[in-house]
Amino acid sequence: APWTASVLTIFPEAFPGILGLSLAGRALERGIWRLEVSDIRDFALDRHRSVDDSPFGGGAGMVMRPDVVDAALAGVAERPGPLVYLSPRGRLLDQELVRELAAGPGVRLLCGRYEGVDERVLEARGVAEVSVGDYVLSGGEVAAQVLLDAVVRLLPGVMGNAESPAEESFERGLLEYPQYTRPALWQGRAVPEALVSGHHARVRQWRRERAEELTRQRRPDLWSRYQQAAGSGRESKD
Ligand code: ADE
Repeated sequence: APWTASVLTIFPEAFPGILGLSLAGRALERGIWRLEVSDIRDFALDRHRSVDDSPFGGGAGMVMRPDVVDAALAGVAERPGPLVYLSPRGRLLDQELVRELAAGPGVRLLCGRYEGVDERVLEARGVAEVSVGDYVLSGGEVAAQVLLDAVVRLLPGVMGNAESPAEESFERGLLEYPQYTRPALWQGRAVPEALVSGHHARVRQWRRERAEELTRQRRPDLWSRYQQAAGSGRESKD
């Protein structure tokens, strides 16, 4: 069976969204992955189809009801992959988690709106929480699409071998080196000499040095980890 994303949302029309275009969209058409979208509102229990209510203890906004969310989750109980609620309280999404999800059978994504989901249904169903960054979105749908875009491009057969993930940012623990294309001279700016030298070893060395320099300058957090890994494996240099 293809890798399967099961999405629970009150905005089913938001999917596939951007994922229906370009790389992920072509892979979807080619059957490399499946996207199943359920409307949480279909699991509402009253004739007004309510999915939310005001928070106990007071305060602004609305909270998604545990009974409705539980019924929606029961609907994906047999679907493959970990159960993930997109939330700014969650484990930060990084390339390591993206690789783990791509290596599995799929993922089940719960998208919340309003001020969140009743805590009890998250506990009862053992839902994991994932955040796409330290900022607040107005709902989980955009976050779910961020996660799916990152995962789907790693599925076997999605990327051409022209764009191997082994070379890119984070896969080696470094930021990506700068890229250039024609014209070789543009507005008085030349492409770095090493890249037009035709010497593969020089190109590789230049790219590695620029990747290391950028990482050291912009992401000291990644640079520390990279240096630690280098100390216990590759040759170390500061
Ligand atoms: N929902 C709202 N903000 C979010 C975030 N930063 N990550 C994941 N889901 C969210």
